[in-house]
Amino acid sequence: MAIKVIHDPLVFQQHMLALRMEGQTVGFVPTMGALHDGHLSLFHRAREENDVVAVSIFVNPTQFGPNEDLSRYPRDPEGDLAKAEALGVDVVFMPTPEAMYPPGFQTFVEVTELQKPLCGAFRPGHFRGVATVVTKLLLLAFPTRAYFGRKDFQQWRLIERMVRDLAIPTAIVSMPIIREEDGLAMSSRNRYLSPEERRSALALYRGLLRARELFEAGETRAEVWVREVRKVLEETPGVRGIDYVEVRDGVTLEPVETVGRGSLVALAAHVGPARLIDNWWVGMDTLDLVPGYNIPPFPWSEP
Ligand code: PAF
Repeated sequence: MAIKVIHDPLVFQQHMLALRMEGQTVGFVPTMGALHDGHLSLFHRAREENDVVAVSIFVNPTQFGPNEDLSRYPRDPEGDLAKAEALGVDVVFMPTPEAMYPPGFQTFVEVTELQKPLCGAFRPGHFRGVATVVTKLLLLAFPTRAYFGRKDFQQWRLIERMVRDLAIPTAIVSMPIIREEDGLAMSSRNRYLSPEERRSALALYRGLLRARELFEAGETRAEVWVREVRKVLEETPGVRGIDYVEVRDGVTLEPVETVGRGSLVALAAHVGPARLIDNWWVGMDTLDLVPGYNIPPFPWSEP
């Protein structure tokens, strides 16, 4: 079946509701486009688990602050559609900002506690924008399951909470971070980096490897983890600024003093023009570069 591209929110909603009324299961992957293998891993999982796969491509203005990269956020609609088609995606929803936020729009969703720490402290309003657009997208797509990457760990936990709190009838599925062969977490924003900045950006992965060394050595004091991981970032030329290095509970995102399996070590730093984030879900995700788990080649990139 040829891929179906829909721009109008209500046409998309009617199409998706009709599929569910027929008894089909729907896997939905919300994205902002500039697709990379991280997104494709979500498409692949959605394809395995559902009758129909729908993807949204929408650079959501309400999750960007006034001095952030909304206007230069990478956009590649044609490349994205080709990738979605190759992965067997059935429906792509590509609305305009005006269609998603028509004149008079004034309703927002907030996840009051989970939106505060980590990226929320440095990007005021970001998670309000994310929660609002994801709620609207879930109401339009009406999916059985929706898929999110654990690179945006806080976003995943926040959406999971929101869906439970608002009784949205969609199962939230998360997938591990996908890395380049040298360990850099895949991100649409990596496209901003020069080759030299790209090398500096590896400090984030090296910081997490240092965290793993501490874990393996039995070090449980969060303050030691933070100090040691920060040191890796501070000592790397080209890392312009560190927003945070933090260790938190992997579910509630509350601060912890003692680190263990299931904690989260999360970091955000500026390299060149990019603000980069990365994390390790301690003892739950691997930082080893395992083909098919967190680095290409995946089944879809085989000839
Ligand atoms: O993770 C993203 O790409 C975005 O935050 C999302 C979930 C598509 C909402 O705009």
